[in-house]
Amino acid sequence: MIRYLRNTSLLPYNTFGVEAMASHLFFLQSPGELKEMLDFPGFSQMSDDMCNLLVLGQGSNILFTDDYHGVVVRNEIGGINVTYEDETSVMIEAGSGVVWNDLVEFTVNRGWWGIENLALIPGTAGAAPVQNIGAYGVEAADVITRVNAFHLEKGKWMALDNRECGFGYRDSIFKRELRNKTIIYSVVFRLSKKAQPMLEYSGIREELERMGISDPSGADISAAVASVRRSKLPDPEILGNAGSFFKNPVVSETIYRELSGKYPQLRAHRQGDQYKIPAAWLIEKAGCKGYREGMMGCYEKQPLILVNYGGATGKQILGFSEKIQESVYSLFGIVLEREVNVF
Ligand code: EPU
Repeated sequence: MIRYLRNTSLLPYNTFGVEAMASHLFFLQSPGELKEMLDFPGFSQMSDDMCNLLVLGQGSNILFTDDYHGVVVRNEIGGINVTYEDETSVMIEAGSGVVWNDLVEFTVNRGWWGIENLALIPGTAGAAPVQNIGAYGVEAADVITRVNAFHLEKGKWMALDNRECGFGYRDSIFKRELRNKTIIYSVVFRLSKKAQPMLEYSGIREELERMGISDPSGADISAAVASVRRSKLPDPEILGNAGSFFKNPVVSETIYRELSGKYPQLRAHRQGDQYKIPAAWLIEKAGCKGYREGMMGCYEKQPLILVNYGGATGKQILGFSEKIQESVYSLFGIVLEREVNVF
């Protein structure tokens, strides 16, 4: 039977560690339980005809600024299955509630290539396509071939291929047209059996050298990535946070030229005819790196990350983030967009 709680705290279910109450909380462990949930007595009123329904994975990219007056679904759909295999590639289908790093370990331990650079990203397999998670030169969109979901309004199962997911930088159709309209129940990835190390992103090669490894396996790369991440990013188990709070802004060539003329040390990544500027650099220049106010702060080793030292409310963290946005805007005229979902 599906697990259900009424008027319950979401504190254990968000990595920022903020307090918020959910009117209704369902724990989904299989696609079958989805039907049970939809048939649950009074479900339509609870979710205000699906208008107030929020799906949570690990709660690692969310900030609650208020109680949630509706239905929260904690996705715990597990299982990793090989659906196709040949000499050079393998396809695996992961339940959307599988912890992302467990999936990374599952694949690197079998010598399969594709997601080793995405080690230790918090969250679930089902959140990977929503956010198009990325790190160290690799994005989920590079390896996702299909997303299986249930469309809540249409009451239909659907399968989206890579193109239909409309992936962009930390973006997909699930954050736009399908926002809060679907429950993803599994994701299919195509991985390679042939070594294809991606070591261009700064820090990884150096870390492998430090480890004394010259011909790295996927497992070595994921270990190196994990070690670099641990050295820069706060562990949410110890210090509440939701990873990068802001996206790196993408600006026109004119703006980039203007900025780099003024600040020759600025390093940006070219994206077509635009430039992706490190938000961490903008925040640092605006003097906010390491800035602390009460129980929250801008992390001293990576200013893209806002941290809850304990007891900060979601509203306070949101207000704090707006101050950072204002400081950056007044110095550079650049609007920092949030990466974290705010409710
Ligand atoms: N920088 C500074 N000051 C700092 C730290 C960084 O100026 O204190 C500048 C440096 O110029 C550095 C640049 O920022 O070269 C980029 O920093 P970093 O390589 O650490 O990565 P990022 O762009 O800040 C992105 C992702 C991270 C991902 C890393 C590694 C976004 C919003 N963030 O951060 O993803 O782990 O690259 O690939 O795209 C997340 O999405 O939650 C996340 C942590």
